[in-house]
Amino acid sequence: MVHQKTARFMAALFAMLMISGAPALAEQAAPKLANVTILATGGTIAGSGATSTTTVGYTAATVGVQQLIQSVPELAKVANVTGEQVFQIASESMTNEHWLALAKRVNALLTQSNVDGVVITHGTDTMEETAYFLNLVVKSRKPVVLVGAMRPSTAMSADGPINLYNAVLLAAHPDAVGKGVLVAMGDQIHGARDVSKTNTSTPDAFKTTELGMLGYLQGGKPFFYRVSTRKHTADSEFDIGGLTALPQVDIVYGYANMNSVALDAFVAAGAKGVIHAGVGDGSLAARVKPALSAARQKGVVIVRSSRVGQGILARNGEANDDQLDFVVSDTLSPQKARILLMLALTKTSDTKELQRLFYAY
Ligand code: DGL
Repeated sequence: MVHQKTARFMAALFAMLMISGAPALAEQAAPKLANVTILATGGTIAGSGATSTTTVGYTAATVGVQQLIQSVPELAKVANVTGEQVFQIASESMTNEHWLALAKRVNALLTQSNVDGVVITHGTDTMEETAYFLNLVVKSRKPVVLVGAMRPSTAMSADGPINLYNAVLLAAHPDAVGKGVLVAMGDQIHGARDVSKTNTSTPDAFKTTELGMLGYLQGGKPFFYRVSTRKHTADSEFDIGGLTALPQVDIVYGYANMNSVALDAFVAAGAKGVIHAGVGDGSLAARVKPALSAARQKGVVIVRSSRVGQGILARNGEANDDQLDFVVSDTLSPQKARILLMLALTKTSDTKELQRLFYAY
């Protein structure tokens, strides 16, 4: 008799809870997922090969963004994901025009209240460059994460799916806000300014060797241990809103027995700036220095950088930059120095101001 009364009471209590909005309470308990837009540009992450053991000699940029999303159903557990195919190219073919179009799309998306973060799938060959360009021109603190793969989607142990999952959960996470543009590869979080591709083909290719990566991605969570100290994104003074092109800046590579043929050709073709990727601390070969000085006299901005890959490019070290009116690249690689100089030249050609920008970004 007592059991029947208890059962009736519990049934009535349950009914009251259901009517009272318990499901809503349950729903409130479930965290609201962030809205992340995936902008697909191509690359190996969208690549395909003839067999499961084909890890080189495959075709990049063949798989569309919707297929990339469908291939990782776990994405739906970490974010509300939408996808856009902005390009479908191998990243060695990325151009200034691609960068301007991509940056404008990112900035437009991030002004929308229903977009919390952006992931960009990209080839690894120039990922570090696109990341740095966006680091300088994205006008938002919302997360922007670049991701790629070292193996095509058809390969055994393809790294694309887990890299994409990690990139989306990073872009959806509040800890990624205000950190600048990030690169998520191999369970690691890198800052756009200092990351580089350090191996032609192995899955651990992306490293921030001496200045250090920012953190890890593990168990569906990001773990940050450091932040970039240079200006970026919302704090950047660069604005590409009204730009349809960027000034021509080229790179001359330093080596023993170097001559000035390439430099002279770039100047003749109308380059506004030249990055000298010198040996050592940006040293100038005796038969190249006059040509660099002549180029400067013609109004071409010369930035001394280094092919070495690590370390500070010392002003007035291997050359009298004050006297030559050159700029030095600080710790930026030649390819990233080119990006900063292109954007800087949209604002000024004054070498003192240019040098300030190289020490600020
Ligand atoms: N063609 C190269 C690129 O699109 C493939 C390398 C990769 O994406 O991993 O960057």
